[in-house]
Amino acid sequence: MRKHVETWGPATVANWGPGYDLMGAAVSGMGDRVTARWEPNGTGQIQIEAITGDQGKLPLDPEKNTAGVAAQEALRIIGVTDKDVVLTLHKGLPMGSGLGSSSASATAAAWAVHQLCESDLPREALLPALLKAEAAVSGWHADNVAPALLGGFAFIPSYEPLEVLQVPGPNELWITLVKPDISISTRDARQVVPTEISLKQHTHNAGHLGGMLISLCRGDVPRMGRAINDSIVEPARASLIPAFYEVKAAALEAGALGCSISGAGPTLFAVSNDENKAHAIADAMVETFRTQAQMDSTPTVTVIDNEGARLLQSS
Ligand code: HSE
Repeated sequence: MRKHVETWGPATVANWGPGYDLMGAAVSGMGDRVTARWEPNGTGQIQIEAITGDQGKLPLDPEKNTAGVAAQEALRIIGVTDKDVVLTLHKGLPMGSGLGSSSASATAAAWAVHQLCESDLPREALLPALLKAEAAVSGWHADNVAPALLGGFAFIPSYEPLEVLQVPGPNELWITLVKPDISISTRDARQVVPTEISLKQHTHNAGHLGGMLISLCRGDVPRMGRAINDSIVEPARASLIPAFYEVKAAALEAGALGCSISGAGPTLFAVSNDENKAHAIADAMVETFRTQAQMDSTPTVTVIDNEGARLLQSS
């Protein structure tokens, strides 16, 4: 067993337009870090000794914190009962941003326990722990935690039983993320999603989701972009984001191949197959938030993270 580990859980873009709760992808360069060490006098419990980068907003109580819930469940799955684990969580992601902040913390924490124990369980064995943690704070959905853990794109064809299919991201896929200066709680944003839809909406979204998956497997980024087309969730959530349709139109005008809400929002994501274009799209979106909503926003240009949860250092 290791004495000390530091791990990383990446940010994720969930839904990808038509894939509400069914599809997400990990993105590079943004995420949360967790450090973990043993407390020898224990009984298999998780303690959180500090959280940084959260402006004091997150509770240290491990039962009320996504990192604590995930780590506790991971420790139970691995079967440690004779000592405790002490965690420190370093938030790199803004909360309520639509970038899978709770999932990144949960993933980094569960992976920290796995790596501290030097467990030989496959990554997938931690998925139930992550799903439980996500459910504790936002809802029963795996489209952030699965790609955060496994890397690349993750598709969830079934929740009962839970099944996840992983597909690496195409090389030439560039992602522009623009987060306006507001936050939205995922729990609240799930309340506005319709619980009943028409057959027309079903065929619209199922068709585009199928198109998305086949295009992804073919590495056809322009075709993927066209499949970012959602008749159910985006229209229901658009009003939560000031000037949503104007900013989306600006992204498409600047050359984006597709654009929608990242997870529960308010971050918007836009895809392209050229880095310069991805930056031009970011500029257009930021400018439109400023002029149409009088709102500051933060742009990021990134690519898919095909690795997922990882060990940063250990002793
Ligand atoms: N599928 C979830 C939702 C993702 O849209 O509510 C939340 O990050």
